[in-house]
Amino acid sequence: MYQEIDLDKININSEPPAEEPARQYYFMAKCRKWVQDFEQKNGRFPKACVVNMGCQMNARDSEKLRGILGTIGYQETDSEEADFVIYNTCTVRENANNKVYGRLGALSSYKKKNPGMMVALCGCMMQEPEVVEKLKTSYRFVNLVFGTHNIFKFAELLASAYESDKMIVDIWKDTEQIVEELPNERKYFFKSGVNIMFGCNNFCSYCIVPYVRGRERSRKPEDIIHEIEGLAKDGVVEVMLLGQNVNSYGKNLKEPVTFAELLQRIERIDGIERIRFMTSHPKDLSDELIEVMRHSKKICKHLHLPLQSGSTKVLGEMNRHYTKEQYLLLVDKLRAAVPDIALTTDIIVGYPGETEEDFLETMDVVQKVEYDSAFTFIYSKRTGTPAAKREDQVPEDVVKDRFERLLKEVQEIGAKKSLQYEGTIQEILVEEVNHQDSHLVTGRLSNNSVVHVPGDKSLIGKLIRVRLTECKGFYYLGEVIEE
Ligand code: 5AD
Ligand code: SF4
Repeated sequence: MYQEIDLDKININSEPPAEEPARQYYFMAKCRKWVQDFEQKNGRFPKACVVNMGCQMNARDSEKLRGILGTIGYQETDSEEADFVIYNTCTVRENANNKVYGRLGALSSYKKKNPGMMVALCGCMMQEPEVVEKLKTSYRFVNLVFGTHNIFKFAELLASAYESDKMIVDIWKDTEQIVEELPNERKYFFKSGVNIMFGCNNFCSYCIVPYVRGRERSRKPEDIIHEIEGLAKDGVVEVMLLGQNVNSYGKNLKEPVTFAELLQRIERIDGIERIRFMTSHPKDLSDELIEVMRHSKKICKHLHLPLQSGSTKVLGEMNRHYTKEQYLLLVDKLRAAVPDIALTTDIIVGYPGETEEDFLETMDVVQKVEYDSAFTFIYSKRTGTPAAKREDQVPEDVVKDRFERLLKEVQEIGAKKSLQYEGTIQEILVEEVNHQDSHLVTGRLSNNSVVHVPGDKSLIGKLIRVRLTECKGFYYLGEVIEE
């Protein structure tokens, strides 16, 4: 494992090794020399700020960036007035891109004050060629730009950036390569995300992800199990398995494995108490998986199952490969197997050509399924996707009206659903001291609901039994049950 690699033993005056991950450790050793020189000159270690702007996959990538920066010797800070700032960007919706340009403006003024400051950009937005062009012409103070496929090369790229006064740009279109055993710095000591696959093959017509994350690549089950065993030894009790479409995990491996089989192997790992996963595509959710969920003691009672639209016509145009009826049937099967499962979803409002009738179909599914919560999105036109070329975009005022109606419905149902557990005794995993009231700690139920109970930081990372005394709509207040 990476913890055993001693950077001091690496000869940085020799040629870099060709094989991975040895090559990256060589560059980490090189960068560390740079950091030590910085410390000699300035009497302090350089500070690094990693800004995570996207989904859970993006957050996990940020942990890898932090792990490498920490190994090199940077001190972590939340302030962007730092010696090294990296934005790990998202590009799913248009306004995500605009936010990055806005924030870069502020960074350039910090850099004027601290000319040695380095600015790096990575993540999904960088996989768009127009973005890189714009950075090259209008944001020339940026030192380093890379994408989603070569994040494992971060140390090597950083070493090049130290030696260059020009912007280093390294974007790969796609890769088969998955590099294991690199450092990462977990945000929580007791829970961790674990990538099980990268990329997406689905090409939903509105979505930019397949273009920026490339084709589906699954990690080998042995590598995943090895990582989780290591995490369990390190005190992790909850893992979140991550992929754009976890239900198609393992299909393209040399020796194919199903996601359900992988889950069963993870279930057997001692020390792991809770297993979560996301995201599930309804078209690939198998009966085998439902059976595994029915019998599992560790898989959490929560499934995020993006609906996107309730209209079969719109679903067809979105290239989702399921109908309204098939989706509802799937929900019935899940509820029959795991009666107290919490269901959450993603819904897009205002897809091109969406009529009032189509929208009412979406409302109908929301009412029938009764989601515990839902992320609702206004359709955003992403250049490069088929839906963006359509001429029948829905007028803004119509979309806004539908969006508000949907949000109201989703919130009312969510509040009603939460009420059902008021007064019951449940288990929570305590995650942190409450930000508003330090006499409380905050944890999550298996179904992902948030609970605040009296307690202190000694409870963090523990699974404890609590009574849910009061439902406050989207969270509960509770009390600890003494055993
Ligand atoms: N516009 C709005 N929402 C989108 N999503 C993906 N692409 C778009 C888009 N162009 C939403 C989907 C997906 C979630 C991660 O983001 O609902 O499930
Ligand atoms: Fe995008 Fe569809 Fe892939 Fe999800 S499954 S990442 S919505 S293309």
